[in-house]
Amino acid sequence: MSFSPNVVMVTGGAGFIGSNFVRYVLANSDDMKVVNVDCLTYAGNLGNLTDIADDARYVFEKYDICNTDEIVAVCQKHNVDAIVHFAAESHVDRSITGPGEFVRTNVQGTLSMLQAARAAGDVRFLQVGTDEVYGSLGEEGLFTEETPLDPHSPYSASKAAADHLVSAFGTTYGLPVLTTRCSNNYGPYQFPEKMIPLMINNARHDKPLPVYGDGSNVRDWLYVEDHCSALWAVLTKGDTGRVYNIGGNSEKRNLAVVVAILRYLDKPDSLIQFVTDRPGHDFRYAIDASRVYQELGWQPSVSFEAGLAQTIQWYLDNQDWLDQVVSGAYKNYYESMYAGR
Ligand code: NAD
Ligand code: DAU
Repeated sequence: MSFSPNVVMVTGGAGFIGSNFVRYVLANSDDMKVVNVDCLTYAGNLGNLTDIADDARYVFEKYDICNTDEIVAVCQKHNVDAIVHFAAESHVDRSITGPGEFVRTNVQGTLSMLQAARAAGDVRFLQVGTDEVYGSLGEEGLFTEETPLDPHSPYSASKAAADHLVSAFGTTYGLPVLTTRCSNNYGPYQFPEKMIPLMINNARHDKPLPVYGDGSNVRDWLYVEDHCSALWAVLTKGDTGRVYNIGGNSEKRNLAVVVAILRYLDKPDSLIQFVTDRPGHDFRYAIDASRVYQELGWQPSVSFEAGLAQTIQWYLDNQDWLDQVVSGAYKNYYESMYAGR
């Protein structure tokens, strides 16, 4: 049975995927109201939303998801009837150097959001999850929704814990929950600590491009707008209590992605610098997304080649945005991570 929300709360709506999702919902509905709840960490940036900031259907509420009572009050104030929960610490390398914040935001924060959803009247709750909870694949095979969870990094462990809490709230309290697990996203407004925007940013300054290990690791890339349309399909057409894998069917080795970026920018391969591998680096992620294809009629619409070209061009056209995010907390982080490499 389909579900038509009137007021959607988007947590983490000032981040990469969240801001694209807010824009997607407003562009694809007439009178849907969107309430963006974000506490604006280093990764949250209202500059991601300047084009829709004055839309009467959009509201920004600056709150921390860990403050349950405040989230309940925001739900009640706006009559929220669906929550799409993006807010998280999302970068694997940061989770290796500082796992505590990941447990606070991703585990305690998700628990807090689930309690708020219950208290606000059993609001429909979509947990935006990651394929990293399934662990790592060899050269063959795909993650299905039945693959046992086997997280390897503090980031994926915290996301797996969050997924378990979501499932438990569905089973124990009957909260109408849905969970998605998606592969690597790329596109506009991604913070340049993640591989694709980091490589674009370095290449434009002729700085070395740090490839972990030998660059043979594989990720399945999905253009962010395709993730947004999949999330919308799951929220409005999915069965509660169910998990939905989302993927781009577009596996690439890291080195191939980096070389493609250099080619587009007409920069030399000599910028590539092989650096010490990420500890516990998962070798390969690949998704079997047949459930969303067959049950919800969704499929990706942007090929990796077209999406990458569009993405690189977006960063070239928005160098002010890049300069602005790189000059803040990220700058110190970047220098501490890559100094001397
Ligand atoms: P991001 O790091 O770009 O954005 C996270 C947002 O959450 C930021 O705006 C930040 O300010 C906000 N936030 C963090 N802690 C908060 C708190 N305590 N209270 C309120 N807001 C808070 O992340 P992203 O890459 O857009 O990922 C969004 C979600 O999608 C995450 O849950 C992530 O696990 C999941 N996901 C990401 C990918 C990917 O490739 N990026 C793939 C699959 C799933
Ligand atoms: O699979 C979904 C996940 O994808 C999301 O849940 C995470 O939030 C998101 O950050 C992403 O995780 P990854 O670790 O796969 O993404 P990242 O961009 O950090 O790295 C992609 C690959 O590139 C990975 O194999 C590590 C490698 N890499 C990364 C960086 C930042 C490099 O070789 N050099 C780098 O500088």
